[in-house]
Amino acid sequence: MKSPGSRLANKKFFIHTYGCQMNENDSERISGLLRDEGALPEDSIESSDIIIINTCAVRQKSEEKFYSLLGRLAELKRKKDITVGAVGCVAQLYRSGLIEKKPVIDFVIGPDNYGQIQDILAKQTDEKIVSTRWRSEWHEVPSHIVHRNGKTSAYTTIMEGCDNFCSYCIVPFTRGREKHRPERNIVEEIRQLAQGGYLEIQLLGQNVNSYRDPETGFPFEHLLEKVNRIEGIQWIRFLASHPKDLPPSLARTMKEAKKICHQLHLPLQSGSSDVLKKMGRGYTKEEYLEKIRMIRFHMPDMSFSTDIIVGFPGETDNDFEQTIEVLKKVRFTNIFSFRYSPRPRTAAAKIDDSVPFAAKRERLLVVQDVQKQIQLEHNSSLIGKTEKVLCLGKSKKDPQRYSGRNEAYQVVNFHSEHDVIGQFVEVRITSCGPYSLHGAIKS
Ligand code: 5AD
Ligand code: SF4
Repeated sequence: MKSPGSRLANKKFFIHTYGCQMNENDSERISGLLRDEGALPEDSIESSDIIIINTCAVRQKSEEKFYSLLGRLAELKRKKDITVGAVGCVAQLYRSGLIEKKPVIDFVIGPDNYGQIQDILAKQTDEKIVSTRWRSEWHEVPSHIVHRNGKTSAYTTIMEGCDNFCSYCIVPFTRGREKHRPERNIVEEIRQLAQGGYLEIQLLGQNVNSYRDPETGFPFEHLLEKVNRIEGIQWIRFLASHPKDLPPSLARTMKEAKKICHQLHLPLQSGSSDVLKKMGRGYTKEEYLEKIRMIRFHMPDMSFSTDIIVGFPGETDNDFEQTIEVLKKVRFTNIFSFRYSPRPRTAAAKIDDSVPFAAKRERLLVVQDVQKQIQLEHNSSLIGKTEKVLCLGKSKKDPQRYSGRNEAYQVVNFHSEHDVIGQFVEVRITSCGPYSLHGAIKS
């Protein structure tokens, strides 16, 4: 047997990631674990020996994208000896059933078992492997092993899973119950990231405000204060927050801890209290609006983004109108909107998916149209102003065109004659579209 550290020497791998930031961070961990065993990352599926697909099950459409990629891989497998692994939420949901349905897959690993991926790949047998056992303890991957995609902004997962069981949501069945990562491990990871030159940290979890340090019981605010004191880190963000768990103490911490960006992703889902009740969200439209008011009272410059689902079973025209009303009241900086998609094992899937597809499609278009106008108006109001931007990359086509994010997490594209990747810069906004701002670096 080869010595640990080189069991996958010279094996070429490719990871394709669907879904949320947590999946992206998991793929960074998996990539690190494979590199640690000597495997080499490739830029394309065609040139790889090992193809890992990190899947998302949140909507039927995300699942289908994965199946169509599998079709392509089945063709490749007829020509070439490749190993195909399915990891992530679809893997956890269907377990061995996934291999039975899609024989191109060689192994299936759920989010609780990524620590075994090197061993599974090093086995070199033709036997199909399924590893989807739930674990109650947090599995720590040493921070130095994680291979990050960027050099300036980093994700740090602080908790995983969800105990809320919103009636439409598959996550409790794919990510399990909440597991919280020890605060000292999180802080140590961020310290190392700061030493490595990272300027921005995004704390990730399905419901970060319910975070408690499993060792001391200290709440999320305590973690934020600690991260705020880490030298070198300049901007801190976190997602996702649940409106029902957002106490005034968090707003105070956000105000006092100066590195925390005044930006909050606060999923609304629906503006109708009736629909919210059927979704099991634990707040009414009025309570949601009151949270927004409370946060804006402390921080008038707060930028909000949200998630909206249209066409939940039983959603009437009037319910939908109320969603539009909330969009107009809050004026979110950005939204993510979806047609309701019934998901296996969820409570809502047992109710009739009563809103016709055409109505869902129409409502989605209306939501996006209303929001587009709001964003256009807001972005236009920034023309002539100067925004602090963290530069994260540059255009492939135009070497003087750079891209970054402002504190509100909006995309800012700008012109600069010097390479400013990985730096904070001042950008004067000269024009905009509904989804991005454009400008030039101030000299
Ligand atoms: N159908 C449509 N959208 C969904 N989301 C979660 N479950 C579903 C579903 N069954 C959306 C929610 C959530 C985001 C990550 O995905 O808006 O906040
Ligand atoms: Fe998709 Fe949710 Fe899983 Fe993220 S946690 S990959 S959004 S199903």
